[in-house]
Amino acid sequence: MSTDSLRWLAGKWTGEGRGFYPTIDSFEYEEEIEFQRIPNKPVLKYDCKTWHPVDKTPMHLESGFLKMKPGTNQVAFSIAENIAITEMSEGTLTDNSLSVTTQSIGRSGFNKEPSVLKVQRDYRLTPDGDLEYTISMQTATQPLQEHLRAKLKKF
Ligand code: HEM
Repeated sequence: MSTDSLRWLAGKWTGEGRGFYPTIDSFEYEEEIEFQRIPNKPVLKYDCKTWHPVDKTPMHLESGFLKMKPGTNQVAFSIAENIAITEMSEGTLTDNSLSVTTQSIGRSGFNKEPSVLKVQRDYRLTPDGDLEYTISMQTATQPLQEHLRAKLKKF
């Protein structure tokens, strides 16, 4: 598989999402994601920002890199988040999907409980050309389940 598989994901996406978890009230958010190609490298630079749909105040923020293992469909997705968590994930990229699971999670010594134990991210290109994703997490108190679900359009 060549780095052309990165092409569908590259660009800027914007849309709305919804978050939930048994321990919190459900919420809605707006989001902008950019996957930026880096010339001559099998890598996309990743930036994500979310904000409150009504008062527009910033919510979750993340930045990182999606790196392909050349000649394969394997990827590594490294992400740093504003909540003092880092995710090092691995998984697979196809011509219309990206699925990764954390191999390790870093957190500060002063993060609030509960600890995040696992994160599963599934992104897919719909037949209409939209980007849909779900992000599931397992914490020290809850089994793996959806925290986020969103749909974005390329702009
Ligand atoms: C679009 C991205 C995200 C948004 C908008 C978002 C938003 C929120 C909100 C509003 C809450 C409830 C308020 C609070 O307790 O602080 C929350 C809780 C939480 N989020 Fe997220 N989040 C996002 C992504 C993530 C990711 C990627 C992780 C893990 C790596 C994560 C981990 C958590 C945890 C652990 C909680 C606390 C759950 C609990 O108290 O049991 N969030 N999130």
